[in-house]
Amino acid sequence: MLAEDCRALDPALDPFCPEAIERLVARHGSPLLLIDAVRVRAQYRRLAAALPGVDLHFAMKPLPHRSVVEILRDEGACFDLASDGEIELARRAGVAAARCIHTHPIKRESDIRSALDFGIDTFVADNPDEIRKFGKFRRRAGLLIRVAFRSPDAVCDLSRKFGCDPQDVAPLCELAAALNITVHGLSFHVGSQAMSPTMHVEAIEACARLLSSAAVCCERPGVLDIGGGFPVDYRHTAMPIEDFCTPIRAALSTLPAGVRVIAEPGRYLVAPAAIGVATVMGRAKRAGRWWYYLDDGVYGSYSGRLFDHANYELDALRGGAERHPSVLAGPTCDSIDVIEENLSLPRLAIGELVVGRSMGAYTWACASEFNFFPKASVLALDRGRIIAGQDGA
Ligand SMILES: Cc1ncc(COP(=O)(O)O)c(C=O)c1O
Repeated sequence: MLAEDCRALDPALDPFCPEAIERLVARHGSPLLLIDAVRVRAQYRRLAAALPGVDLHFAMKPLPHRSVVEILRDEGACFDLASDGEIELARRAGVAAARCIHTHPIKRESDIRSALDFGIDTFVADNPDEIRKFGKFRRRAGLLIRVAFRSPDAVCDLSRKFGCDPQDVAPLCELAAALNITVHGLSFHVGSQAMSPTMHVEAIEACARLLSSAAVCCERPGVLDIGGGFPVDYRHTAMPIEDFCTPIRAALSTLPAGVRVIAEPGRYLVAPAAIGVATVMGRAKRAGRWWYYLDDGVYGSYSGRLFDHANYELDALRGGAERHPSVLAGPTCDSIDVIEENLSLPRLAIGELVVGRSMGAYTWACASEFNFFPKASVLALDRGRIIAGQDGA
């Protein structure tokens, strides 16, 4: 099927334009998650240009799809892996282990062993128990100590769950030294979809002080991993990435000479590179508003409405200028499965298409098949060619 479908669209046609979307749904059904390789590359190149000298490790979790891994592999990206499944995906996509780090702060011994077997040698820890787990692997693994910097203005504040207090870095490094475990440096993640670079800047400056302190016994000049958090546009426009990274670059210049800087962008690389396409299964007028029931919802690709607090730009693919108060709901029988209540949409007929923009991050990756409604099929396109289908093949 894929072989004969390979050239699905005119290479000059934007795969996110109405004509392309209609053609793809006619052939591959609905719901779909369409990934555009050209946009993935553009995001990677734009962030790489905004952070020169910083090694970008794609955090796979927002969109763990083989096509994306292969596109970024070919761009020269490195990878941030956090589970056996992600390691397996990297392996299948032919990613060299030397380009990967393991960043989950809490791991079972079996997780450490499978990462080591793949060839990863850099891990993250943020507490004494986790450091002790590496005693028996000290010849094969080194650590980054994850530091917590609370980030009230990030949409998802990750330092609530992981990371040690800055004052605990020195004792944790001492414990590692006592166990002959190498500490390569520090890492942090200020939280996803950061609204301003302020927390990145403060965290980098705090880490610069720690990496300069004689009390912190780690490799010199060492490594600083500045995590992810780089924001994208949803219904609210985010700061352009060039502006976001300017103060970050200035803060990085305060690091001791020679520190290797890495970052773990996830959302920024994939969110704008995919759209969700769903079909109206049925409709009803309730209390003066049109309710449209789609074949995808918050238990599917729109899970990010709940888990990720994301406000996707949603609209009908076609339709007249006249708009009416409308609600978009998912297909399941659960009342929480409502995507958006206060929309203004053209009058939609059963079978018409609805598109969600910037749906590459934390959408399909977090979707379930509750009520046996299948997850969206994934189609990755590169200048008119389908490069991967649902199973990533
Ligand atoms: C350890 C780690 N690195 C990177 C990321 C990616 O963050 P973002 O999508 O904000 O770039 C996450 C997200 O949860 C994470 O937990």
